[in-house]
Amino acid sequence: MKILIIGSGISGLAAAIASADMGNHVVLVSPYPSERAQSVMAAGGINAAVGTAGEDDSYVHHAMDTIKGGCYLENEDDVRRFCERAPENLRWLEQMGVVFNRKEDGAINLRAFGGQSRKRTAYAGASTGKQIVTALVQKCREYEIDGRIQRRLGLHFHSGLIRDGVCYGALFCQQFTGVLQAIYADAVILATGGQNKLFGKTTGSELCDGYAAGRLFSQGVQLRNLEFIQYHPTTIETDYKRMLITEGARGEGGRLYYLDGEKRVYFMEDKYGPKGNLMSRDIVSRCIYDCPSQVYLDISFLGEKLIHERLEEVYQLCKDYIGLDVTKEPIPVAPSIHFFMGGIRVDRNHRTNILRLYAVGECASKYHGANRLGGNSLMAAVYSGRVAAEAIHREENAKVRVENFASYIEQEEALLNRIKESRSQFPSVYILRNLAEIMNDNLGITRNRKGLSEGLEAVDLYLNVMKSIKFDHTVSLYENYRIDSMLLLAKAILCSAMAREETRGAHIREDFPETKETFQKCSVAELVDGQIQINFEAESCEKGERMV
Ligand code: FUM
Repeated sequence: MKILIIGSGISGLAAAIASADMGNHVVLVSPYPSERAQSVMAAGGINAAVGTAGEDDSYVHHAMDTIKGGCYLENEDDVRRFCERAPENLRWLEQMGVVFNRKEDGAINLRAFGGQSRKRTAYAGASTGKQIVTALVQKCREYEIDGRIQRRLGLHFHSGLIRDGVCYGALFCQQFTGVLQAIYADAVILATGGQNKLFGKTTGSELCDGYAAGRLFSQGVQLRNLEFIQYHPTTIETDYKRMLITEGARGEGGRLYYLDGEKRVYFMEDKYGPKGNLMSRDIVSRCIYDCPSQVYLDISFLGEKLIHERLEEVYQLCKDYIGLDVTKEPIPVAPSIHFFMGGIRVDRNHRTNILRLYAVGECASKYHGANRLGGNSLMAAVYSGRVAAEAIHREENAKVRVENFASYIEQEEALLNRIKESRSQFPSVYILRNLAEIMNDNLGITRNRKGLSEGLEAVDLYLNVMKSIKFDHTVSLYENYRIDSMLLLAKAILCSAMAREETRGAHIREDFPETKETFQKCSVAELVDGQIQINFEAESCEKGERMV
């Protein structure tokens, strides 16, 4: 079978290698090389209950922590499968060549991470994502040599080739020429990451702009749980970005405090006891947000040896970006957007509601519910990539009848040509900057109806403006044709946040502070006759009881 994979971070690479291993022909497409994928920014580790920390861990505990951390929204069985396979996936990564930190006896070293009852986060220093990408890219290159994987760079996803609920491939825009190119396949796996660009300054890559999810939404793909946006508790603010201070720093013993006069107030420990610094991210971020003054993270007392051995990247990052020596001084930290629990709705095999279209990694919404546990995203990237590849191999068959998309492609080409030739006083960069402000202002750590309504009004205004707008020739074609879909996705996020009239996990409504049983459901966003509809579907589980 011919499998088209769009996006070459960890989930796309895992899907490509797994598909090629099963004898399929893979076309792996992305605008940039894997080394620029968001995945390389993942720092602290990857979760698997391998039990090498001397605690009685098992996948059942991992699953229970994941479900509880996600505020009981996810399907119990799907989470169990994900956690059950995690140790095997960790071994798979080792076979690919990832070198995890080890103990003196040679067993994998595990660190504590937030919201987890046991130490189960394996790590490669504080650059775990980079190490995984490096190993998978190496494997992928081997397969390129023998032709099993064909790697295509410089192609931006434009749209799905979808007709009557079936996906036949995808259309891409060539980066430098703006020419459209269709790639047909028997199945398509989308691995395009989250939506950082909609929010501007996040810990993630702005190359992940949510365009693919927005465009596919307009083509009939359902989205899910968009209102759940994770704020990572410990980031540092720079003019250009939010820099992640890995949860591993608290996993190794780092302590959060603020100053009351001269006195340090260890607010997390005061409220939640000795493990307070490692509560789940939604809780820590909310507590930091409520602090009366600047919050600091102190790791200096861990000593230079441990810091250089296990947290070298934190040391380097603080030195390079804010000129601070973490072996001597505390780090000023603040919560920032880090991960999107919401995304494309998928089933346990990572099938979307469109036949032969799959979604994996952060662009898919699965396993994390209302709040993701640190270390689960890297494992979900590997797991989802492999599971989708296996499902396609098992369930799909080759020789999809290729529909004739010529008139659709012609129509899209004509639109792009109009954009190329036109001029405007209304540049897309301006809209994008404003969009990020609208999203940050109204979808912060806490939200309310007033802010969400204002956000919706502002996004609607831009959507209307876009209908009549001529484009600015000073920014790239690529920027211009993407805005519509990004605005649509932004609107769907705001609508989902408005519809969930309760507080749960990362969704904190000032006007609905309670968690309500009626909302123990996932939100599903769908475009029906041009209108965004939000429904709630019961995919929840009992509060952990059935896990044991
Ligand atoms: O803090 C961190 O190292 C982030 C890890 C994650 O989001 O999984």
